[in-house]
Amino acid sequence: MAQMYNKEENTSRQPWWETGVIYQVYPRSFQDTNQDGVGDLNGVIQRLDYLKWMQVDCIWLSPVFRSPMADFGYDISDYTGIDPLFGSIDDFDRLISEVHRRDMKLILDLVPNHTSDQHPWFRESRKDLHNRKRNWYIWQDGGPDHTPPNNWKSVFGGPAWEYDSATGQFYYHAFLKEQPDLNWRNPEVWQAILDVMRFWLEKHVDGFRVDVMWHMVKDELLRNNPSQPGTDPASDFYDDYLPVYSTDQPEVHEIVRAMRELLESYGQKVLIGEIYLPVSKLIHYYGKDNKGAHLPFNFQLLTAEWKAEQISAIINEYEGALPEGGWPNWVLGNHDQRRIATRIGLPQARVAAMLLLTLRGTPTLYYGEEIGMTDVAIPRSEIVDPQGLGFPDLYASRDPGRTPMQWDSSPYAGFSQTKAWLRLAHNYNEVNVANQQHAPASMLNLYRKLIDLRKNEPAFTRGAYTPLYTDQQVLAYVRAAPEGDKFMVVLNLTAGPARFDPPHQQWHGEVVINTLPGREGLPTSGPILLNGDEGLIIRLEPGAGQPEDPASTEGLATTGSTPPRIR
Ligand code: NOJ
Repeated sequence: MAQMYNKEENTSRQPWWETGVIYQVYPRSFQDTNQDGVGDLNGVIQRLDYLKWMQVDCIWLSPVFRSPMADFGYDISDYTGIDPLFGSIDDFDRLISEVHRRDMKLILDLVPNHTSDQHPWFRESRKDLHNRKRNWYIWQDGGPDHTPPNNWKSVFGGPAWEYDSATGQFYYHAFLKEQPDLNWRNPEVWQAILDVMRFWLEKHVDGFRVDVMWHMVKDELLRNNPSQPGTDPASDFYDDYLPVYSTDQPEVHEIVRAMRELLESYGQKVLIGEIYLPVSKLIHYYGKDNKGAHLPFNFQLLTAEWKAEQISAIINEYEGALPEGGWPNWVLGNHDQRRIATRIGLPQARVAAMLLLTLRGTPTLYYGEEIGMTDVAIPRSEIVDPQGLGFPDLYASRDPGRTPMQWDSSPYAGFSQTKAWLRLAHNYNEVNVANQQHAPASMLNLYRKLIDLRKNEPAFTRGAYTPLYTDQQVLAYVRAAPEGDKFMVVLNLTAGPARFDPPHQQWHGEVVINTLPGREGLPTSGPILLNGDEGLIIRLEPGAGQPEDPASTEGLATTGSTPPRIR
C-alpha cells in the first residue's frame, strides 16, 4: 500500500461528526452469522475490525428494530426492541461497546414520521373514534362514496389515504398503508418519540439519522397539493404533484430543535436529517441559530448529471447557501438509490470517491461503494422491495443496490453460508474485499488512502474550499487550512484525455493520490495532462498561495474558513 500520512493528531475543537467519515451499514446485507441468509448485529460486530482498518469513524445502522418488514425495517412495531432477525438487545449492547472500544461511533436510524400498522399505538388508535391514541395518527373523514380526504399521494404510488372500515375514517400514510404517519401536531407523540431517543441515548448511541425529516409535519388544513405543470391532474404518481402541503411545513423546525436539545443534553451527539429538498429549502434544517440538525443530508450528488460544470455549480450553490456556522456534508449513495458505480461507471466511481473525500464537509459512504459494488439485476420474480413491487414497469426497485456485501470469493461471498435474501452479484469472485485488500491499485485501497489523507490533513477536515477551474471535462479546486499543507484537486469527469492549466505556472507540487496507477509521488508543474477518468490530489509546495506569490489564491472566492494561507 502506498505511503500513509501519520501526522500529528488533529488538535482542533471540531466535533467528531465534522472531521469523521460516516459509513452506512444496511444490516440485512452486511454479514450473516446465524445462517438465515439475512445479516445481523453479530455480523456487524464481526466486521468492525474491517471498518476500523478502513478508518471509518462512525457507523450509521439502518433500522434493526422490531418490524413486520413491509418496508424492510422502516415500518417499526417496537422502537426499543431489536427484531429477532437481527439479534437481541444483548447483541446490541455488545455492538455498541465493541464500536466504542475501537474508538468509533454508532448512530441509529430514527423513524419518527410513521410506525408500522402493527405498532401497539396504531392498533389502539384504529380501534374507535374516541380512543386515547386516536389523535396519535392522522385520521380524517373522506368525501362522499369513500373518496379520500384530499389528493395526497403515497411516495410508493396510489392515494396516501387508507379507508379503515372499523371507524369509517381514512388514515394518512406517506409510504405504505402498513406505515401510518404519526400526528406530530400532538404533543404526546413528541414525548413518546423523545422517550425512544432517550432509551437509546442511555445505551450510549452517538446520535440519530432521522428518516424523512421533512415529512414529519403536514398542513393543518390538509389542503390539496398542486399538480406539477403538464401532468395529469388525476395522476396517481407522487412525483406528479408538488408536495407543498404534505411536506416541509414550518412547524417541523420546532421538533428538530427539540430533538437537538435532547441530544445535546447527552453530550457530543449528532443529529442527521434525511431530507430530499432543494438547497434553498434544505438549509433551513440547520435551524434558527444552527440549533436544528447538525447535518441535513446533502443529496445533490445522488441526482446530479455527472458533468464537471454541473457538479461545480452544485458545490458552489451549496457552499454559498450554507448558513454561517452550518457544517456541510456530502452523500454519494444510500439504500434508496442506484449505486454510484452503476450510475457513472466504475472508472468514474473512483473519481467520485476522490471528490467525496476531498470536498469540504462530512462524507457519508454506503456499504460496498468502497469496493465498487454495482447494482445487481434482480429478476422480476425476485423483487421484494415494496417500491419495486408498486411500480413494476418503472424499474423503481431498490433491491439492486441492497445486495449482500461481497467479502471474499467463497460460495456466498463470505456474507453467509446459505442463499441470501437477495441474490449476489455474479462477479463477486473478483469484486470483493479480500481480493482488493491485497491489490494496491484497488478501489478499496484508493478509498483507504483518501480517508487516511483526509483524516490527517487539516486542509481537508477544516480547510477552505476554493474553486479554481471548471470546463466541460475538468473540475479543479484547492483545499487549504491556515495550518498544514495546501492541496489542489484536479478531476477529469470524462473518459477522454483532458488538460488543465493551473492559474499560475509557478504552482509546483507532488501527486499524493491518483485514481489511476502511475503518478503518485511524481512532481507536477505547469500544465497538467490528465488521462480519461483520472483524478489527482497534488500537495502544493510550501509558498504556493502566499499573497506575494504569483500562485496565490487571493482574489478567488473561498468558502469555509479564512482565505488559504500557507505555513
Ligand atoms: C426513507 C428510507 O430511507 C426508505 O428506505 C424508506 O422506504 C422510507 N424512508 C420510508 O420509511
